[in-house]
Amino acid sequence: MMRRRVFALAFVALLILAFGSLQPGDPTAAVQAAPPPAASDVERRIDGIVKRMTLDEKLDYIGGVNNFYVRAHPRLHLPALRMADGPLGVRNVGPSTAYAAGIALAASFDTDLAGRVGALIGRDARARGVHVLLGPGMNIYRSPLCGRNFEYFGEDPFLASRMAVAYIRGVQAQGVSATAKHFIANNSEFDRHHADAVIDERTMREIYLPAFEAAVTEAHVGAIMSAYGLVNGVHMTQHDRLNNQLVKKEWAFDGLIMSDWMATYDGVAAANAGLDLEMPSGAFMNRATLLPAIQQGKVTVATIDDKVRRILRKAIQFGWLDREQTDLAWPLFAPQGRQLALETARGSMVLLKNQGDLLPLDKSKLKSIAVIGPDAYPAIPAGGGSAQVRPFVAVSFLEGLAAELGAGASVTFNRGVATLAEIFDSSEFVTSPQMGDGPGAGKPGLIGEYFNDATINGHAALTRVDEHVNFAWDKPVTWPTGPVKTSSARWTGFFIPPSDGDYRFAAFTYGLDEYRLYLDGKLIFERSAQTQPIASRTLRLEGGRAYAVRFDYVHADHHARVGFGVRRADQLLDPAAKALAARADVAIVLAGFDPMTEAEGYDRTFQLPLGQDELINSVRAANKNTVVALTAGGGVDMLKWIDRVPAVIQTWYAGQEAGTALAQLLVGAFSPSGKLPASFERRLEDGATFRSYYPQAPRPSMKVAYSEGVFVGYRHFDHSGIKPLFPFGHGLSFTRFKLADLRISPEALDGDAPVTVSFAITNIGARAGAEVVQVYVADHHAPVPRPPKELKGFAKISLEPGESRRAQVQLDRRAFSYFDVGAQRWTAAPGDFEILVGTSSQSIELRGKVTLRN
Ligand code: BGC
Repeated sequence: MMRRRVFALAFVALLILAFGSLQPGDPTAAVQAAPPPAASDVERRIDGIVKRMTLDEKLDYIGGVNNFYVRAHPRLHLPALRMADGPLGVRNVGPSTAYAAGIALAASFDTDLAGRVGALIGRDARARGVHVLLGPGMNIYRSPLCGRNFEYFGEDPFLASRMAVAYIRGVQAQGVSATAKHFIANNSEFDRHHADAVIDERTMREIYLPAFEAAVTEAHVGAIMSAYGLVNGVHMTQHDRLNNQLVKKEWAFDGLIMSDWMATYDGVAAANAGLDLEMPSGAFMNRATLLPAIQQGKVTVATIDDKVRRILRKAIQFGWLDREQTDLAWPLFAPQGRQLALETARGSMVLLKNQGDLLPLDKSKLKSIAVIGPDAYPAIPAGGGSAQVRPFVAVSFLEGLAAELGAGASVTFNRGVATLAEIFDSSEFVTSPQMGDGPGAGKPGLIGEYFNDATINGHAALTRVDEHVNFAWDKPVTWPTGPVKTSSARWTGFFIPPSDGDYRFAAFTYGLDEYRLYLDGKLIFERSAQTQPIASRTLRLEGGRAYAVRFDYVHADHHARVGFGVRRADQLLDPAAKALAARADVAIVLAGFDPMTEAEGYDRTFQLPLGQDELINSVRAANKNTVVALTAGGGVDMLKWIDRVPAVIQTWYAGQEAGTALAQLLVGAFSPSGKLPASFERRLEDGATFRSYYPQAPRPSMKVAYSEGVFVGYRHFDHSGIKPLFPFGHGLSFTRFKLADLRISPEALDGDAPVTVSFAITNIGARAGAEVVQVYVADHHAPVPRPPKELKGFAKISLEPGESRRAQVQLDRRAFSYFDVGAQRWTAAPGDFEILVGTSSQSIELRGKVTLRN
């Protein structure tokens, strides 16, 4: 059994003053609630309720109802408890404020901001009667491919912990429980029900657990959501060691562990292994399964009681049994939310590159600006899936730029690249190469055969000619033979290229659906469950030759959606985009992903979607003042253009006010201060997990060995000596800062005393700005291999031009420790530790030393 932790939590107290802190009367301040009831009173009250519940009622209580509720119990005066996603705002109860995504919040390196965002999301939840917010998401960014990186707080466990604690405190101060999710190792979306993360304990403790540990022990989060997948061979919803031994015993968690939606696989195992609430319903933890198990002595009533008690404990502690959760005083469409969403977007965008100081643009001289790219309009506040909050209003980049510059300059717009639907709907196929009117003559389109099972075999339930393949339908599908649950389709015919050239084939589906494209009998590409939804490939084809096309589709998920087509590669771009760029003073390309291409449920590509690299290059060829702004939850492949494009901004998914924020950044209304919360690799193969991100053996093995161990992100780049394209912590400003005068006190210490690291920072540029100073600790003497350095503190400091301040951070003993697996505790090896202070993980400006004597 794991031993109770000895040391106090690792944390850094940021002692710099009042960085945008709460003012009296500030709407973001905590709701003035009655003081929390004493623990003994809470337990007494729980006793009273549990005593009056029958066993059947208890079993019903630990399974959710109506998708997002803990069921009401009128006889016992227990209200239904409402849940809502999380984490970027309140989803699934109508429109709400859409804040910058978790990764963007992390890029702000601003814990005060994270706390205020949490508080307003908590307020939005109260306005909608929500008791439990399903966020924050705090899985670690292992690879840019993870479809949900945008929801999370980046690659560093310390940064993720600080963000999580601030956010949770903000939410919970409003009388709403936060939910730390997804516990643990939901680091990819690929086949997430089956992926089995094989992680050694030290790596778990040092990389994947700290944010959850801080959420529990520092922020006292009310709920934890189990991940879909397995860890070391056991599904997380039935992981006794992690749920019971670690979270509930070692961390003394008194809240509830709920399953992710349909992430429970075995009712008895889950009941015994610490799952308290099965969501969205008691499909496994129910009377039918648990009553016999109780009779056979496989599950005890005390185990069931503990689950009910945990739910009731939070209900009582948060006051849900004693007041209306809906707070009518807080407007559904709150102006404070818009304001804070804008502040968050401004604080999180990262200026990656700014060659020749192209930015900020001089608004007074700017006469024309070409706004180009698929992410320019409409607004893309968030990636896809359960985090996709629907805002009342969302300012697209085009609208933001037009509002900021439209009065003095001409703002033109072109999407630049064909949509998938345009490609699918304009593709020209024939059912036979013989055209004309005779029997067997070809018709435009492909022959579609629709099957009542998933095998694409046997007798088709329906055969018809489909001119194009671009369909969506709901489940169950009604074929002429009646409704069916699972189905498949095959389209066959010919493609006759009008001339010699390169042709781009592309297909789309999502969820668990699969497709396969064959040309002249050869497999061209395929998609299996929960991989990237879009596949595309360019082939050199001969004009006039008939190529046999076969496109197979297997539909398994809720709504069928499938498309397939082909277009000449040199016709993917709209030539008008280049023409507009050529005529403008400046061209801004809004490239990146969207809720279809970067989403929950599947991973994404490292490459930008279809045609975007070509678009950036063609705009850059027409205009040397080209700025690229990327919408993405992490790094993308920039190799095809990064050396030619002078200015690049990572906007993440910056929420509903992203358009205004980017426009203000471009004209220098503020100086960017966001920093990368994840290393951006130059090539995918340079990253820590290139070989360990997906299962290393073919199915049925779903084992993903986290063989990089603790060397994730910058820990890997430092360790391997490989240079990232942009390092962790990197982000440029319009002004310049100078760090000086590092002081470490005490320089040598015994025991647990905290170490204070202080430094002076001066804004030596001509504009106001904020710098994120990062404090790393390097341990070169531990008996285990440690990363060359690790982030253990940071401070975001705003300074006027010429202004200078001292700032300090504190390091406690945990900041020097590794997890000693043998001794089952955090251990700091006595000796000298280097203290490295800088403005990115690769720009260390000050170095010092501290000695731990014992
Ligand atoms: C997601 C969770 C989410 C839940 C409810 C699941 O698919 O993984 O993050 O909270 O759905 O929407």
